Amino acid sequence: MSCRIVVLISGSGTNLQALIDNLAVPDSPARIVGVISNKADAYGLQRAGAAGIPFDTLNHRDFIDRESFDRALQQQIDAFQPDLVLLAGFMRILTPGFVTHYRGRLLNIHPSLLPKHKGLQTHQRALDAGDAEHGATVHFVTEELDGGPLILQGRVQITPGQEAASLAAEVQQLEYRLYPLAARWFAAGRLQLNDDRACFDGNPIPPSGLRLEDLESGI
Ligand code: GRF
Repeated sequence: MSCRIVVLISGSGTNLQALIDNLAVPDSPARIVGVISNKADAYGLQRAGAAGIPFDTLNHRDFIDRESFDRALQQQIDAFQPDLVLLAGFMRILTPGFVTHYRGRLLNIHPSLLPKHKGLQTHQRALDAGDAEHGATVHFVTEELDGGPLILQGRVQITPGQEAASLAAEVQQLEYRLYPLAARWFAAGRLQLNDDRACFDGNPIPPSGLRLEDLESGI
């Protein structure tokens, strides 16, 4: 049976598009059954519509506090009966109750080599820090913002004089490979969160995550 995925977005949804394209193939192990945005004007909703995927919005401004929004969001997500929930540019801090409910089946993609540069403006911060490399990370979501066990990282070298926009563009291209791969692994039953450790094929993943370049070079 194919893995049912719900994707949460707030914006342009280019990662959502990469997931749609990657999973819309014969014999796909997973399918996106719903997309939810906290912003009604998120372009990603049009992407969902164009792909024939049911979508919904839930405006956080309609709720008095974070807890009540997250409870309503949880109900909306669970109506899709997902096996996996993917945060793809979902610009909300999630409550412990929400995160606990989806423990082990909630992933995020973050545009940095975590644990470096949690939060926003990651490309400029990598440049300002004089980092030699930068990248993106897929991780399990836990209560700590951008802090859950790492699954997979891809990296790019920073070139002298590089600007944030060009670095961001390179990292985005990486993201479009990383997230569908991790989603497929999950769908195939290859990824688990055991206690606080991410596991791949039953083996603990190193704290720094698996490296895309190692996988591609067959190491
Ligand atoms: C991506 O850079 C992702 O890493 C971060 O938010 C951005 C979403 O972009 N979490 P998009 O909406 O998928 O284009």
